[in-house]
Amino acid sequence: MLVTCRKLLNAAGAKGYAVGAFNINNLESLLAITDASGAESSPVIVAATPSAIRYAGLEYLAAMVKTAEKSVSVPMALHLDHGRDVETVSKCIGMGFTSVMIDASHLDIEENISLTRHVVGLAHPKSVSVEAELGRLAGVEESTVEEKEAILTSPEAAKEFVERTNVDALAVAIGTSHGAYKFRAKPQLDFERLEAIRKMVEVPLVLHGASGVPSWIVEKAKKYGTELGSAKGIPDEQIRRAISLGITKINIDTDLRLAFVGAIREILVTSPKQFDPRKILGPAKEAMKELVRRKMRLFGSSSKHP
Ligand code: G3H
Ligand code: 13P
Ligand code: ZN
Repeated sequence: MLVTCRKLLNAAGAKGYAVGAFNINNLESLLAITDASGAESSPVIVAATPSAIRYAGLEYLAAMVKTAEKSVSVPMALHLDHGRDVETVSKCIGMGFTSVMIDASHLDIEENISLTRHVVGLAHPKSVSVEAELGRLAGVEESTVEEKEAILTSPEAAKEFVERTNVDALAVAIGTSHGAYKFRAKPQLDFERLEAIRKMVEVPLVLHGASGVPSWIVEKAKKYGTELGSAKGIPDEQIRRAISLGITKINIDTDLRLAFVGAIREILVTSPKQFDPRKILGPAKEAMKELVRRKMRLFGSSSKHP
């Protein structure tokens, strides 16, 4: 069943768990996510970025998710991740997305508010929920206090932002960043800031850049030739703490990519005679499914099918 993110996140907030938002690019990533969701009896958010839409085509992605929805009994949202403009948002709403993100975090706050309000005005009459972002997802390890203040989400600004935009969910910057290289030294999120934001803002809070870059995936990917250097993600205990402090949506893309590439490389290296795409992509799908199942357990969303 396709529902809005707002509905999934309100239920998560009331019971103290988080719902994973997993990025899709193709059939295998979607099947991995929906199979995991069924196996774990977990609500799930299927997310597509503008570049995924450019890669696979909006109609293909939307049609695949609508087909998957018929065979999955758990509630699921179809979400535009990091939408940058009104045109993309409108097209996704037109194709049946139940949730959209307008990411205007690169603009100044007044412009971010004005674009977000505009998107809320388009989405709410169609019963589509809206996520926005305040603050920037950039590495802050070596930043000064002043630099951190300029990058991370200000609790006071978050309150004003939510009141003036009427968004359904707010993505906050508390020290995470996208990709596999989040920290040079020790991973550390700004939990004090998260607590302060939670006290001032009532809407569901979202953690982007939340991949863990877990060693069980990284080691396999490296073993079969992936060059990953000193990749580092968010440790599981910091994800648990973030959930306990009010994060209810957690975005994962990098870990899916790592699981995918490790499995593909293993087959190509260990079975050089194999050239059936299904025998290559099948194990990659299974590796992504295992990853998603583990995330659902970590986020506490397993067995939360109402
Ligand atoms: O924020 C989400 C991503 O990990 C970046 O995805 O390469 O599809 O834009 P993309
Ligand atoms: P990761 O790069 O940590 O997986 O973050 C994904 C994300 O935030 C998608 O919006
Ligand atoms: Zn993101």
